[in-house]
Amino acid sequence: MSRQKNNVLVGVTGGIACYKAVHLCRLLIKAGYSVKVVMTPAACSFVTPLTFQAITRNRVYVNEFEAGAEPEIIEHIELAGWADEFIIAPATANTIAKIANGISDNLLTSTVLPYKKPIYIAPAMNVDMYANKATQDNLSRLSELGHNIIDPGTGEMACKAEGKGRMAEPEEIFDAVFSDRPLSGLKVIVTAGPTSEPIDPVRFISNRSSGKMGLALARQAKMMGADVCLIAGPVSADISGLNPVRVQTADEMLSALKKEIDSADILVMAAAVADYKAAEYSDKKIKKSDSDMVIRLSKNPDILKELSSGKKKEQVFAGFAAESHDLAENAKKKLKDKKLDMIVANDISRKDIGFETDDNEVTIYFSDGTSSESGKRSKTGIAELILAQALEIYRKKNGSV
Ligand SMILES: Cc1cc2nc3c(=O)[nH]c(=O)nc-3n(C[C@H](O)[C@H](O)[C@H](O)COP(=O)(O)O)c2cc1C
Repeated sequence: MSRQKNNVLVGVTGGIACYKAVHLCRLLIKAGYSVKVVMTPAACSFVTPLTFQAITRNRVYVNEFEAGAEPEIIEHIELAGWADEFIIAPATANTIAKIANGISDNLLTSTVLPYKKPIYIAPAMNVDMYANKATQDNLSRLSELGHNIIDPGTGEMACKAEGKGRMAEPEEIFDAVFSDRPLSGLKVIVTAGPTSEPIDPVRFISNRSSGKMGLALARQAKMMGADVCLIAGPVSADISGLNPVRVQTADEMLSALKKEIDSADILVMAAAVADYKAAEYSDKKIKKSDSDMVIRLSKNPDILKELSSGKKKEQVFAGFAAESHDLAENAKKKLKDKKLDMIVANDISRKDIGFETDDNEVTIYFSDGTSSESGKRSKTGIAELILAQALEIYRKKNGSV
């Protein structure tokens, strides 16, 4: 890639994190990109256009109706055509809401509509503004429209609140936009979370899976450029920006998978699917009685086994084995029985890793008899490793190295 030719448009909106956008511009300039900045009027109350002009050595664009600046061009159309990449950082709740609804009432939002590629959007706001349903719905809409949301971080904010909403660091934004996207062009299906099998209108059988591992896989696959289809049970972890197909039961998960699997290149089954469901569902709440109760359970479909029977030879299937004992033996048996290419074995007897935690430590067993140890890492780190291994197998199968 000839970096000198790459034009990056940075949109800056009115939040405290504007100062970080200055650093982002410096990183881009240092890396050899040509950078232009378009600011909302509110952003100019936080950092002056002159600061960005000095860093980028380009005119900074703010006023949509400035007569005569460059009379031969219409700025929002020209800027949209000029930009190879468009990053909005920080993105306020207000601008996110406008873009989600196609509103174009300043130079930045007017430039969004004629821009033809996905935009990178780095939300930055107070924790409650971020958690607000309206903001979350708007972010989901932006993902649906194909834009890339660069997840905000968690920590102390300028307003002293603690939580999620702080803009990703400029280095993270830079990496999200320009790091290698080795999964680009591949469709990756990820399943996440538990399933929930109803017994009656108020009771169900489920398990302790939070969905964190599956969601980390979906986010990482997206970051690595994949076209991600996330099929999620009732997860308790943050699912924003991932556009999941939501399911409750194992049967629903299987039918969602059947709709998607033919066009998939890689499947990662991270969901903790319930093995059993109530044999009979009672549509009325079962009343308490004086005696003990027996609920008869019937087997759920074995999702991986069913999908494996129609598996194409160029596809890669990865499963998970969460075990409390005989980890290696059980994982290897599952790998073989379900005709997987790889299986990620998780020791759930340890309190510091696995269910509901942020870290994990796994052994990956491969169908060629080899294995690899991850060491303890964040779930994001584990996700990166799993996807890198799946990609290596995919490349071997499909003759591209
Ligand atoms: C001191 C101060 C800090 C603010 N920080 C943020 C912020 O971090 N994120 C946000 O969404 N809004 C923030 N706001 C509110 C926005 O500036 C306001 O919604 C404005 O209309 C955004 O306009 P814009 O999206 O066109 O830039 C802040 C306001 C003030 C006064």
